[in-house]
Amino acid sequence: MRERIRTQIATLLPQASRPPHAVFIQVGENPASTTYVSAKGAASQKVGILSTIERLPASISQVELLERIRAHNDDAGVHSILVQLPLPEHIDPRVVIEAIDPRKDVDCFHPENVGRMTVGLPGPRPATPQGIMLLLEHYGIELAGREVAILGRSNLVGKPMALLLLEANATVSIGHSRSRDLGELTRRADIIVSAVGRAGMLSAAMVKPGAVVVDVGINHVPLLDEQGEPVYDESNRPLSRIVGDVDFAAVEPLCEWITPVPGGVGPMTIASVLENTLTLYKALELQ
Ligand code: GUN
Repeated sequence: MRERIRTQIATLLPQASRPPHAVFIQVGENPASTTYVSAKGAASQKVGILSTIERLPASISQVELLERIRAHNDDAGVHSILVQLPLPEHIDPRVVIEAIDPRKDVDCFHPENVGRMTVGLPGPRPATPQGIMLLLEHYGIELAGREVAILGRSNLVGKPMALLLLEANATVSIGHSRSRDLGELTRRADIIVSAVGRAGMLSAAMVKPGAVVVDVGINHVPLLDEQGEPVYDESNRPLSRIVGDVDFAAVEPLCEWITPVPGGVGPMTIASVLENTLTLYKALELQ
């Protein structure tokens, strides 16, 4: 995907007056957000998208943040704006998302774009669900008429994932923290998408043999040595490692396909952000 996007940008550049430019805004110093924003910025540069990472202090007021967004909305040289979530407590993410010009909304979080997606109109699609759809398509995984269980009902993953799968004619169920029996839901499923954020939550007993499992979870757990003891760095801080929602060692032997964490859905999310940036750029610059 990255190579295709890079080639397409190089081909388009001579017809356009400027290169694509993506702005990534991070408020505060959440370490996970720093990692994601840096990864998106670096991936953009590699395919020929100019990227600006704007790191703002956690103390910034909502009004000041909205002013920054407005400045990027009004700047014709900026084609995509991403505000990394979560935001500090005193800032309402709904207000911030609605302040982004829908034509520059690379995340597809703005209600106008969510509405367009819901009724099947063209426009950006949320990066993680879109990345998962491309992954399923690439591996030739049939969706029409098949049972898909989604775990998690967030606006970022669960809900848009359900819409995209429905559009591909899957039979979709969404399980969440108030569902009575998640295992019943997942054992019936041909495809399971887990976006809960709890390590080891999808056990082997919850998976039908031959299922396809997509793990969206990113969970930090303590790094243990062979004796099961925590490992520390030179400053005596406990080291951690990243795992998904799925008990990978137990579930993997049952599956037809399974995505690893890290290295499965994450890189697809980033590639989808690049793809959306290109789509927004084309709509703003070349029509
Ligand atoms: N936080 C976690 N995932 C995302 C994402 O896809 N976009 C934004 N803006 N923030 C996030």
